[in-house]
Amino acid sequence: MEQRILGGQGLRVSALGLGCMGMTFAYGGQDDAESRATLERALELGVTFFDTADMYGPHTNEELLGSVLGPRRDEVVIATKFGNEIGPDGQGTGRVNGRPDYLRGQIDGSLQRLRTDHVDLYYQHRVDPDVPIEETWGALGELVTAGKVRHLGISEAAPETIRRAHATAPMSAVQTEYSLFTRDVEDNGVLAACRELGIGFVPYSPIGRGFLAGTIRSTEDLPEGDWRRNSPRFQGEALQANLRVLDEVNALAERKGVSPTQLALAWVLAQGEDIVPIPGTKRRRYLEENVGAVDVTLTSEEFAAIEEVAPVGVASGERYPAAAMQTLDH
Ligand SMILES: NC(=O)c1ccc[n+]([C@@H]2O[C@H](COP(=O)([O-])OP(=O)(O)OC[C@H]3O[C@@H](n4cnc5c(N)ncnc54)[C@H](OP(=O)(O)O)[C@@H]3O)[C@@H](O)[C@H]2O)c1
Repeated sequence: MEQRILGGQGLRVSALGLGCMGMTFAYGGQDDAESRATLERALELGVTFFDTADMYGPHTNEELLGSVLGPRRDEVVIATKFGNEIGPDGQGTGRVNGRPDYLRGQIDGSLQRLRTDHVDLYYQHRVDPDVPIEETWGALGELVTAGKVRHLGISEAAPETIRRAHATAPMSAVQTEYSLFTRDVEDNGVLAACRELGIGFVPYSPIGRGFLAGTIRSTEDLPEGDWRRNSPRFQGEALQANLRVLDEVNALAERKGVSPTQLALAWVLAQGEDIVPIPGTKRRRYLEENVGAVDVTLTSEEFAAIEEVAPVGVASGERYPAAAMQTLDH
């Protein structure tokens, strides 16, 4: 698989990563045996970049990755995250915590669960408005010096926060939602800031949380307990409007003879060498299909056609329910 470099510190990863969140968190249909097989198959296909977070579960996602990837540690690049606060009872508190003493405790737990002595890429999952970013990133820089972490990243941060954090300790990657359906980062200065500062960009939910695959046509298609049932984009009139866009995107994929997911991933991959999407799946057959996107090349006519049906701002409905929207840094 093609390799890409994230940021100025030389973090080398496969052009397509694997998002592991849905294996144990947020999306329904957990199947640990298939998830394990998917992780193994990813390695066979040349995927080396695996994305998790302490909050996924909490903890179960890192444990799953640790059990499969721990023995193959030298072959993989592991990214995890802290900052969506987990309380002493092991459950999410709904708050964000960027305090140095908190993150020092979190990294040790992540290392233990991941069965490793270092994390390759450690992200601040959300920005804590009550803690100056320099305090958080000063402590993150100390983790790099201590050898517990090799590279640093941040998720869902505003351009000014990215600048201040990067000035405190070098940042290798920004992770934020980005797909042909959710192009906010092209418009709000995030992608431009990354490029100006030489920071890599990792699009999460590059298949629009599964929407661009075309199999979710109604809220009822989602399993009970699936997070997307509460997402404004998967409900009511917003969903109907989004389906109209989806049908046009699907027609473009059909015309090209690729799957809708491959079209979506090929589009993200083509946005720049500094971009490494992490599509999520817990199934080998989806993974194999998605990896095929690395070999799909879009023509300028096809880019123009996608631009016409899916311009910046095309999606209806917010990306998160109201309370979660407030935890995003603006
Ligand atoms: N930093 C953050 O705040 C943040 C937020 C969200 C996600 N993330 C990270 O980004 C990763 C990817 O995002 P995501 O999982 O939210 O969304 P995504 O990659 O856009 O889509 C994942 C969904 O698409 C489905 N899917 C994948 N390939 C498919 C295919 N070929 N055909 C049909 N359906 C397919 C998956 O189904 P199955 O699950 O059934 O395989 C899953 O429901 C996550 O795993 C996580 O690591 C980070």
